[in-house]
Amino acid sequence: MALRTINPTSSKAWKELTAHFKEMKAVHMLDLFAKNKDRAAYFSIVFNDFLVDFSKNRVSQKTMDLLLNFANEMDLKEAIEQQFSGEIINQTEQRAVLHTALRNPKNDVRINDRPTRIPIKRGLKKIKRISKTIHNGKWEGYTGKKITDIVNVGIGGSDLGPKMIVDALAYYKKEINTHFISNVDGDHVQEILKKLNRETTVFIIVSKSFKTQETLQNTATIEQWFLQKATILDIQKHFIAVTNNITSASAIGIPEDNILSLNDWVGGRFSLWSTVGLSIACSVGYKKFEELLEGAHQMDMHFKNEPFNKNIPVVLALLSIWYNNFFKAETEAIIPYSEYLDKLVPHLQQAIMESNGKNIDRNGNTIDYQTGTIIWGATGVNAQHAFFQLLHQGTKLVPTDFIGFVKPLHGLQKHHDILMANFFAQTEALLTGKNDKDLMHKGIPSEIIPYKIHKGNKPTNTILISQLTPKNLGALIAMYEHKLFVQGVLWNIFSYDQMGVELGKQLSTTIIEDIKGEKNNPHDASTKALLSFYLKNKD
Ligand code: F6P
Repeated sequence: MALRTINPTSSKAWKELTAHFKEMKAVHMLDLFAKNKDRAAYFSIVFNDFLVDFSKNRVSQKTMDLLLNFANEMDLKEAIEQQFSGEIINQTEQRAVLHTALRNPKNDVRINDRPTRIPIKRGLKKIKRISKTIHNGKWEGYTGKKITDIVNVGIGGSDLGPKMIVDALAYYKKEINTHFISNVDGDHVQEILKKLNRETTVFIIVSKSFKTQETLQNTATIEQWFLQKATILDIQKHFIAVTNNITSASAIGIPEDNILSLNDWVGGRFSLWSTVGLSIACSVGYKKFEELLEGAHQMDMHFKNEPFNKNIPVVLALLSIWYNNFFKAETEAIIPYSEYLDKLVPHLQQAIMESNGKNIDRNGNTIDYQTGTIIWGATGVNAQHAFFQLLHQGTKLVPTDFIGFVKPLHGLQKHHDILMANFFAQTEALLTGKNDKDLMHKGIPSEIIPYKIHKGNKPTNTILISQLTPKNLGALIAMYEHKLFVQGVLWNIFSYDQMGVELGKQLSTTIIEDIKGEKNNPHDASTKALLSFYLKNKD
């Protein structure tokens, strides 16, 4: 059955939320805290190693009740069931969406009566075999040497997810070094190749379609570099492919045994849990990869089974809709207080913005309300010294997620206490602010006082996790995946296609004809002038 197609703005709850917003827009959160001593406990959810405190949001109990009514009126529960049971909810591409099945290989979800468990288990078996053989030194390169380096060659979902996880789990890394080549920028490829030894490197070419220009060009350059010293026959010891297009992978000489398949019900930006995760297993070992999957699975079960008022992804999605559609906040920031999570934001940018940046609803109509939020951020405390001024005193409302860990990995407790003191201080400052009464007694000249005032009342979610383990990381990523799904359902859009990226890709293939001098395609005046400048000056 297809997802329901209710226009959210026509729902009773939306109308009530619109009226309620007028009551809430000027309310300071400090007054809400003053009125309810239990607010922090009441607006928090504990799940496994997670404490999610959403009490520092501009919501009352009535706001939460109305948001929850909205989710119910939009039949969210039914949509969740439809996703987990393998229904064709990616209607525009006629596909099921089953990254959740990848994290639960024991349960056989069927798509049109075809089992998913068999390909999932087959993929896991291959990941296990390859990563183990590389780790125990039995995978030998063409001169008989052990493998020391792995290179993931892919872009978008075939790069960002595994790259983010490999970085995030660097503490658990085995002896193998893992690199990522994504950009078609030749300088990127060269910089990585110059660090590598052909005899001890395995390249994993990751492309669901095996048609992506950037990945194919990078692969061709890498193969050329490899063949400067090795032979065609050596390719089987140094090249692996992960794809849904086995024919094209075979065509570039990768033997079938080195090809890991990727099912069409796994979207690129949700594919790190699939065979695309091979580089993760090569970096941290198969067992840790399984723990990552298990953590995500536990979050899946939380999302599927918990009532909405205690359901982390649902609550976060509803809060985000409250700011996006009623306060008209355009962006959301995500600030992880861990350098290991440096690549979390780029990964979530793709997951969230490629999914929910849509302007046509599930009825085929143009949308007249806001959808996908703009996601940005950086690690704390670096971000505090960069853009936090705008969060504190700027004119824009930026709801922000703060992610922190109770225990550090390396045990430098003094550092961790300072890091976490900053973590707590920021959400407190954003909540309470500083008013002129606080400042007047401090001998500050009166004309300077306005510049020092912080109004506070800036919404934040605090996601406090016991430690950065593979399991908790899996749960964290799954949490955001479900959050974006809920938002897509409630905005009545299709979250699982990405047709907006196609036009630019098509135009680049015509422009390359112009650059090669094969054609003189028509372009707008600006593009034409830019191209002509490039052609004149490039040699
Ligand atoms: O940029 C669009 C996109 O299709 C992403 O959704 C995808 O993750 C990426 O390109 C790479 O695609 P492929 O894995 O097919 O090379």
